[in-house]
Amino acid sequence: MSTTTPTAWDDPLSPPDAPLPAADLALEPSLPESPAVTEPSPAEAGAGATGLEALEMGAARIQVDDKQIINCRADLNQLVPFKYTWAWEKYLSACNNHWMPQEINMTADIELWKDPDGLTEDERMIVKRNLGFFSTADSLVANNLVLAVYRHITNPECRQYLLRQAFEEAIHTHAYQYCVESLGLDQGEVFNMYRELPSVARKAEWALPFTQSLGDPLFQTGTFENNQRLLRDLIAFYVVFEGIFFYVGFSQILSMGRRNKLTGVAEQFQYILRDESMHMNFGIDVINQIKIENPELWSGEFQQQMIDLILEGVELEIAYAYDTMPRGILGMNAPVFEDYVKFIANRRLAQIGLEAQFPGAQNPFQWMSETLDLKKEKNFFETRVTEYQTGGALSWD
Ligand SMILES: [Fe+2]
Ligand SMILES: [Fe+2]
Repeated sequence: MSTTTPTAWDDPLSPPDAPLPAADLALEPSLPESPAVTEPSPAEAGAGATGLEALEMGAARIQVDDKQIINCRADLNQLVPFKYTWAWEKYLSACNNHWMPQEINMTADIELWKDPDGLTEDERMIVKRNLGFFSTADSLVANNLVLAVYRHITNPECRQYLLRQAFEEAIHTHAYQYCVESLGLDQGEVFNMYRELPSVARKAEWALPFTQSLGDPLFQTGTFENNQRLLRDLIAFYVVFEGIFFYVGFSQILSMGRRNKLTGVAEQFQYILRDESMHMNFGIDVINQIKIENPELWSGEFQQQMIDLILEGVELEIAYAYDTMPRGILGMNAPVFEDYVKFIANRRLAQIGLEAQFPGAQNPFQWMSETLDLKKEKNFFETRVTEYQTGGALSWD
C-alpha cells in the first residue's frame, strides 16, 4: 500500500489548502476507532440519507417499513426488500424497451430531405423547430435528474429507475443528434434554437427555475417548506415538462410518419414517446406516493398553486403549437392543438388528484393514444430483430 500522504483533492469536499486532520491520515483505521464525524450528518440536519454515509457495523437490518420516498434515513445502498414494486417494475419494463437511435433506418428520410420537392417549407420548419426544442430539452431533463432530483429521492428502487431514465434521456439526445446529422441540418442552428428562437426558448426558460432550486447544493429536504418545494419541482418537470411540453411536438412529427414522410425521424420519436410516457407515469407515482406519506404538504393552497403551474404550462404549449404551425398542414392546425393540450392537461391534473380545468375537452388525436398504448409493454428486443430483417419498421396505421 502506498505511504504517500493523501492530497487535499482526494476529498472533493475539503477546501484545497485545509490541513488534513491527523485521524484522516491513518491509512488503515480500525473500524471501532473511526474518528467521530464532526460535521452534522444530513440526517441530523433534517434531510434523508444520501447513500454515501460511513458504514455502521452491526446496525439493524433494513425493514420495508423503514423505506420512504423522501427524507428516509435508512441505508440507501440496499435495493431489497422492495417497498415500491411499481418503481422496480418500471425499471424492468424500461430495460425491456431498450433501443438505440442508429438501429433505425434513415435512408428514406435522407432522400426526402434532399429532394427540393420532397417537403414543404412548413413541414421543414416543424421538423427543425422540434429538433431545436427537443435536442436541448432532453439534456435539461437529464441534468435535472442527475444534479437536482436524484439526491433528494431517498429510495433505492426509485433511484434505480432514475438511473435508467437518465440513460434514456442520453439516448434521446443522441437520437435528436442522429436526426440532425442524418438530414444534414445545421447543428449550430438546431442546438442553439433554445436561446435564439423565442418560441423554442420559452418552455426551457419556464422550467429552469424549478431545477435550479433543487440543484442548489445547500438545498435539503426535511422542512415543510423544502418538502413542498421538492414536490412542486417534481410536478413542474414530470407533469408539465415531460407530461405536457412534449406532446405538441410529438404529435406533429408522428403525424408526418403516418403520412409516410420522414418515417425514420418519426420512428425515433415514437420510441422516445414510449419512454417518455413511462417517465411521466413514474414521476406521477412518485408524486402521489410523496402525497400519501406526507399528506400535510398537499394543502388547499398548494393544490391551487399546482393548478396554476399546470395552467401556465398549457398556455406555453398552446403558444408553441401556434409558433411551430402558423398554417394548417398534415390535417392538423394550431386550434386543434389547443383542444389536444387541454385534453392532456385534464388527464395530468386527474393523475395527481386535481380537478380537471377544461371540462369537455376532447382528444382530437385518438391515434396518439393508440400509438402510445400499442407497444408500450412489449419486449422491443424480440420484435426488433424481425422488423429489421424484413426492412420494415413500426406501422403507422
Ligand atoms: Fe427524453
Ligand atoms: Fe423523459
